[in-house]
Amino acid sequence: MIEVTEKNERPLVEVRHLKQYFNINVGWLRTKPLKAVDDVSFSIKRGDTLGMVGESGCGKTTVGRSLLHLYEPTGGEVEFDGKLIKTKSDIMELRKKANMVFQDPYSSLNPRWTSTSCTIPSRSGRTASRSCWASWA
Ligand SMILES: Nc1ncnc2c1ncn2[C@@H]1O[C@H](COP(=O)(O)OP(=O)(O)OP(=O)(O)O)[C@@H](O)[C@H]1O
Ligand SMILES: [Mg+2]
Repeated sequence: MIEVTEKNERPLVEVRHLKQYFNINVGWLRTKPLKAVDDVSFSIKRGDTLGMVGESGCGKTTVGRSLLHLYEPTGGEVEFDGKLIKTKSDIMELRKKANMVFQDPYSSLNPRWTSTSCTIPSRSGRTASRSCWASWA
């Protein structure tokens, strides 16, 4: 577990014991579970950056996808800004505030914008510049 929060400050993102298992085909009508992410916990304070480093296939992207509930996590909990993400409407709210920035920056970010305008929410709260709290390779 990587702890990046200071004492007495509520983290923006809190991931507890996140698990994401897939069933993969291993032959004629046979599947086996693949533990892409198994018991991952971390927290990120507002304004902080957490880097996730690991060999190809170790599960970095899957952590991001599961965190945003693009995959329904097999287990564990995700809390965003103090709210536990459980229902469909929680997920929709989460996705307005958090986003993934993919490895290829040209497919993720508009090159005509500055990095700040791409990542800091606008004052009006509109979604033109969503807050992106992390990026995954
Ligand atoms: N939808 C899926 N169905 C089955 N297996 C998957 C799925 N998505 C990812 N995996 C498997 O989960 C594991 C983790 O993959 P993931 O893409 O998260 O790794 P990664 O750390 O992001 O790798 P890279 O650095 O190459 O981007 C891999 O073994 C991958 O094959
Ligand atoms: Mg990846």
